[in-house]
Amino acid sequence: MTALGSFKMKIDLDNLDLVAKIDRSDMIGAVNHFPDAFKRRTDVMVGELRGGRSGIRSLVLMGMGGSASAGDVVLDWLRDELKIPALVHREPGLPGFVNHGTLFVGISYSGNTSETLNAFRAAKSRRAHVIGVGTGGKLSDLCSQLGAPFLEVEPALAPRAALGQLIVAAASVLENLGLVRSVVREMSEVGAELTGLMGQFRGQTPLEKNPAKRLATDLLYHFIVLYSLQRMSSVARRFKNQLAENSKELAKYDILPEACHNGIEAWRGSTRSMLPVIIRDGDESAFERSIVEAFKSTISSVAKAHPMEVRLPGRGRLARLLFPIFFLDYASVYLAILKRIDPTPTELIEEYKSRLASRRGR
Ligand code: PA5
Repeated sequence: MTALGSFKMKIDLDNLDLVAKIDRSDMIGAVNHFPDAFKRRTDVMVGELRGGRSGIRSLVLMGMGGSASAGDVVLDWLRDELKIPALVHREPGLPGFVNHGTLFVGISYSGNTSETLNAFRAAKSRRAHVIGVGTGGKLSDLCSQLGAPFLEVEPALAPRAALGQLIVAAASVLENLGLVRSVVREMSEVGAELTGLMGQFRGQTPLEKNPAKRLATDLLYHFIVLYSLQRMSSVARRFKNQLAENSKELAKYDILPEACHNGIEAWRGSTRSMLPVIIRDGDESAFERSIVEAFKSTISSVAKAHPMEVRLPGRGRLARLLFPIFFLDYASVYLAILKRIDPTPTELIEEYKSRLASRRGR
């Protein structure tokens, strides 16, 4: 605990009036709405593709920040089904393989993110099949100019609060083009299950019965180091981002078993405030379980803080990704409130964007 923290009065997360005074734009309410997008029916028609679906030989989901998170989740969810190489791309330039056989889905909540717009234009000039996803902005205008499909999603409090609708839109594109099986049923089942989970995590549920509030309390005053298997990395990365944007908390994430071969050594030099948090997958193979357990017991022998685990079992792949995301989204907002920080504003992201725009003369 920092010296400052120990003198401050602790925030009571069950005092809803006080919480509302800190969470002025109601980010908790936005998290409560996360399940809704999966329950709505989305009719996506992206039209006929030149050369048909067999003409698509690679997939790029492009976005930055909260919009890219949707691409991460979609690929972690559907990676076993996709029979073409696919990646989430996060920079203005393009890898060499992008060509007329690439499906390039530009995801931008605002539609105005310069890195995404730049890559989108570049993909079009390489004759890739381009599709835009977002709420409008320049991306929507660009799609109209180019005669490319644009999928409009429902607005939310912030890009990160639109994760549900961005996932649904991107997955629906893949389904519509026949690149994956039908995803509608799995999405609506998960939506209903998420609504069932909400009762445990929402603001009205007191700390003693609320695992998200308890996790936030445990995380306070720690540098959080997240670990997960590669196929759960969308969850770890999302939580790292939510800790930054909602809680203004620096955290990092690393992937297992790769971290067992390098990052593990750094725990020798760890301090009491460095907290390892392992995000587990309910569907680990015996080999994977052994990896995670061997990692955990190795770092436990040297780390000053005992590793914590996040485990939210679900029946299908999408549930095993979205349940922990939902839980950890709440935890990041509660952590902000414990720190007396309004979780919604992201002034430095805005400042970066306007500095970038003025340097690029726009
Ligand atoms: O969460 C955020 O606000 C950011 O990470 C944005 O998503 C990011 O800056 C990209 O903006 P957009 O999602 O509008 O393309």
